[in-house]
Amino acid sequence: MLVNPVKRAYLELESWFNLSFGTEWNPLYHLGTLSFFLFWVILVTGIYLFIPFHGSLDGAHASVEWMTHEQWYIAGVMRSLHRYASDAVVITVLLHMFKEFASGRYRGFRWFSWVTGVPNLWMIITLGISGYWLVWDELAQYVAIGSARLMDALPLLSGSMTRNFVSGQMTDRFFILIEFLHLLGQPLLLVFMLWIHVKRLSNVNINPPRGLAMGTFFALCTLSLIKPAVSHAPADLTSVPQVLHIDWFYLNVYPLLEYWPEINIWIFTTIFSVFLMAMPWLLPKKDGPVAVVDLDHCNGCGICFEDCPFDAISMQARSDGAKYEYEVAVDPALCGACGICAGSCPSSNPFRSSSSELKTGIDMPQLPVDEMRSETRQAIDAMSGNINIVVFGCEHGLNVNRLDSADTKGVKLICSGMLPPTLVEFALKHGADGVMVTGCRHNDCYFRFGNRWTKLRFDGQRKPALRGRADKNRIRIHGGAETDKNEIEADITAFREELSRIKQLEAEAVEA
Ligand code: HEM
Repeated sequence: MLVNPVKRAYLELESWFNLSFGTEWNPLYHLGTLSFFLFWVILVTGIYLFIPFHGSLDGAHASVEWMTHEQWYIAGVMRSLHRYASDAVVITVLLHMFKEFASGRYRGFRWFSWVTGVPNLWMIITLGISGYWLVWDELAQYVAIGSARLMDALPLLSGSMTRNFVSGQMTDRFFILIEFLHLLGQPLLLVFMLWIHVKRLSNVNINPPRGLAMGTFFALCTLSLIKPAVSHAPADLTSVPQVLHIDWFYLNVYPLLEYWPEINIWIFTTIFSVFLMAMPWLLPKKDGPVAVVDLDHCNGCGICFEDCPFDAISMQARSDGAKYEYEVAVDPALCGACGICAGSCPSSNPFRSSSSELKTGIDMPQLPVDEMRSETRQAIDAMSGNINIVVFGCEHGLNVNRLDSADTKGVKLICSGMLPPTLVEFALKHGADGVMVTGCRHNDCYFRFGNRWTKLRFDGQRKPALRGRADKNRIRIHGGAETDKNEIEADITAFREELSRIKQLEAEAVEA
């Protein structure tokens, strides 16, 4: 499989971050949760700042100055944290968006998360703009006048805002409206939109790993102490500010007003937003056939319901008169066709009906469990080395068939999470000396939980667990992207050496 150059560059960047942070704390694997964390920092510091803040044209600037210079050690640090966390969230959200795009996780059944993400981006930007307004310094004046020009270009307001500002009649009432929007209206709307954004996913964790959160917070605190956020001179609508230090993360649109008519900025922003929202359909992707339930082999245990990353499986009252209380049903509109459910079904046990077709409770038409079993058998039969290793891998990590040799054979799955642990046991029992499971990089599964569930199942912490009779020394997990072939090959070599030692010890034990 060819990796497009953008994705390759991004994977390289992630590898560099893995070297510094490890896969557990790599911020590039936690961009969504990191954005949530930064949002909480913004919220808590914002609540603190609200206490000493004076919400009037005459008092606002002086109260912010008091916080910055008089009580710099608490309020000043809070202000800087508020500012820098706001800048950081723009970076993490843009990277999150880019990451989803570069990984192809924006189209097909994922259109909902993508489309509901776009308004979040704009809401964060407008939240920042209204924040800059509240300081009521020269920068706020610049933002206020620029915003008035932009709003007035809309047919609805037709000049009323500019008349107010340009003639120097900014009122306290209007200022309080902006304060209300910044403190309550916009954050509440954002929280609501974020809830919608992740609503279609299951087991959503909105908190980054603790170490990453603490490191981020520490970095923000350090920056706040080294370079505290400061204001410009107080706003004065009778004069034009000469030197402004723009926050390019939020205020980049305002300098454009010097070159473009306001209406063009609206047209550009609208076309850009519509283009972003339409992307899932501009470059469409056909998802594979969805999971199919076979009630004859489903006892309604609900493990697939727990494991589905996209909330596509529901538990319902039994409809076929069988003795079980529940059955599962798949919503085709939500199904990501990852096959994780097939891997979690206890009926996907290859030791059942070994001579006839293996039927299971929930299966993927494009790669049924029975076919996975046949391919595993064929892979074992095709190897003729001294130490033979079967490598199960997914469609989104390294193409495991690129590893094929006389003593290594790949079996391709849709996602590593669709591998029933009993199939690993089956491979070891039927002639493989070792089994390696690869898939996406750790913490970066294309289908969210495939490699995580696999690891937990193998460690006995998640059902269906790998049974005790499977020799864990002969099983290895090594996640890796398409660009990680060398690392995976090196690990296979090391694994083979270990297996060889195990084989030798076993032979010596038999002889003794
Ligand atoms: C404040 C802004 C945002 C926050 C806090 C946020 C947070 C999150 C979180 C926590 C997830 C769930 C990740 C998981 O559990 O696998 C997620 C998923 C997703 N987000 Fe965002 N997001 C934001 C903005 C955006 C934007 C601007 C876009 C793109 C336009 C976007 C696109 C997506 C997509 C496509 C998914 C689904 C990923 C999947 O199905 O695996 N998000 N987001």
